[in-house]
Amino acid sequence: MSVTSIDVPLVLLHAFPLSAAMWRHQVSGLADLCPVFAVDQRGFGTARDVSLEGVTPSLDVVADDLAGYLDERGLNQVVLGGLSMGGYVAMAFLRRHPDRVRGLILADTKATADTPEAARDRLRIAEAIEREGDTESLAATMLPRLLGASTRNERPDVVDWVTTEIRGAAPAAVAWAQRAMAARPDSLETLAAADVPALVLVGEEDETTGIGEARTMVEVLPRAELRQIPRAGHLSAVEAPEEFNAAVRDFLTRLR
Ligand code: MLT
Repeated sequence: MSVTSIDVPLVLLHAFPLSAAMWRHQVSGLADLCPVFAVDQRGFGTARDVSLEGVTPSLDVVADDLAGYLDERGLNQVVLGGLSMGGYVAMAFLRRHPDRVRGLILADTKATADTPEAARDRLRIAEAIEREGDTESLAATMLPRLLGASTRNERPDVVDWVTTEIRGAAPAAVAWAQRAMAARPDSLETLAAADVPALVLVGEEDETTGIGEARTMVEVLPRAELRQIPRAGHLSAVEAPEEFNAAVRDFLTRLR
């Protein structure tokens, strides 16, 4: 452990339709600072076999899964970090288990609910994925939404990695998560009531949940700071892990 290590664990929640593996650079790059846990949402990654059968799609379910995960490990209070869908889950957790959040990291995400059109679109995608039985079409449509132009043009390794992750996602989990995201409420009031230190991160090339959404969250959060990650799109933690980790390290170090 380095001299700057802190006691509070960092718990990281992944984007759609990826898995906890997207945090591998954070798990390795921040482990000297604090215990880091990257958690798979039900249906994804190592939680692929967790049943979705008969479970109403809701991010509240995922937030309560997380509470169970923390209980099992004896983790009472944590710094909670989520990217995009992971950020939506972090906000659901904050609404349901506010006393367990010591700090908040919201990356490339937004606090507002879907517009009716966006929600309808998700339901259409969920049905299409179930019909098709694979995530091939999703890989094609999502890649430009997930990765910034710099990564798409200059980082074939990252493009390949993300493509493989999307292709490997279970169609049932993808459909369930889309329906859960479509049903999520607006979280602006939840953030306004969150009197904890918060770091809002956004890739400078994020065209999915960009700087406007990030600023909205910073304005309502009582104790938030904003950092932009250069040459990164929506998956800033994957595209620019060194800059992302440096911002998180700086934030966590000041929590001590
Ligand atoms: C994600 O990266 O998790 C997705 O863009 C979330 C979403 O579809 O809103």
